Amino acid sequence: MADVINLFSDTQTLPTEEMLRAIAHAELGDDMLGEDPTVNRLEARAAELTGKEAALLVTSGTQGNLVSLMAHGGHGDEVLLDPDAHAYFYEAGAMCSVAGFTPRLVPAERGIMRPEALDAAVRPANVHFPRPAVLWLENTHNRGGGSLLRQDRKDALIAVARRHGLRVHIDGARIFNASVALGVPARELADGADSIQFCLSKGLSCPVGSVVCGAKEFVQAARRARKRVGGAMRQAGIIAACGLAALQPAWIARLAEDHRRARRLAELLAGAPGVALDLSRVETNMVFIDISAWGIGSRDALSRLNAAGLRVSPSSATGLRLVTHRHINDVDIERAAGIVRDLGRALAGGRA
Ligand SMILES: Cc1ncc(COP(=O)(O)O)c(C=O)c1O
Repeated sequence: MADVINLFSDTQTLPTEEMLRAIAHAELGDDMLGEDPTVNRLEARAAELTGKEAALLVTSGTQGNLVSLMAHGGHGDEVLLDPDAHAYFYEAGAMCSVAGFTPRLVPAERGIMRPEALDAAVRPANVHFPRPAVLWLENTHNRGGGSLLRQDRKDALIAVARRHGLRVHIDGARIFNASVALGVPARELADGADSIQFCLSKGLSCPVGSVVCGAKEFVQAARRARKRVGGAMRQAGIIAACGLAALQPAWIARLAEDHRRARRLAELLAGAPGVALDLSRVETNMVFIDISAWGIGSRDALSRLNAAGLRVSPSSATGLRLVTHRHINDVDIERAAGIVRDLGRALAGGRA
């Protein structure tokens, strides 16, 4: 259906004309040998933006997270993370099955841990336990609702990690959404962490790619890990060219529009029949709603919404996630809310 409103994910965004032109004119070389000038420029730009010494272009956020973990440790090591972390929930168990880490889950609220909970979860050195090695943070937190990890909390968590000798990784797939929403430069959001990965292929609209950033030695290890998992590329400048077009201040600042539209959508949905949602939880470009009162599950709701012209994704048995991005305009938001409202009215009537 051509005019389906697609709120499935910001990963659905298509490259801009400028990106396609940049691909056509990109200076290329063999990146496996470090000879692609466009990749080298992108990596330098990413390192600058995150305040790290070096960076590495990878194929995806999943690969960025995986090679980061492989560079930080391996079999017998433990990574401390929240149960909704993308790397734990959605990355096919790669942290265990490929990197060899054991996850230790730390309770969190909307994906954001408390320093005391982290402190309590780190076990002392003991022959019975895996070695606590890495603290894993996510900003913005996807399953947390696009939630923000604020600086004071991040600094407190990193202080606990340091006390226990842990390294710190930030899954910053949407770090620029966090940066725009908080008004804090990405380099400050990454400050204190040993590594961060961010995605070019989500709200920034690139077709492919993520970047891992950290100290030179770490990036060297991540580069080797990327090779091991088959992620080293040749003329990857065609990917990097899009990344360079995306990592411009004005393009990053545009994410604020997605946040404004998500808020508007949430305000409209808050009044829809049978829809439960907490407006205070809408912090960036995601809106999570609960439709238990509709009396159907999220899978059924998805297909009914789709038939009415709205594509969204499931977040739980009775939860839906709606994500704004650059292909969604103000009219789409009004229409999307109308579609949800109509289905809610049909299923839940006047029930709130
Ligand atoms: C927080 C987070 N980390 C990592 C990823 C993985 O990125 P990719 O889909 O490029 O592998 C995603 C994807 O949605 C994500 O939301």
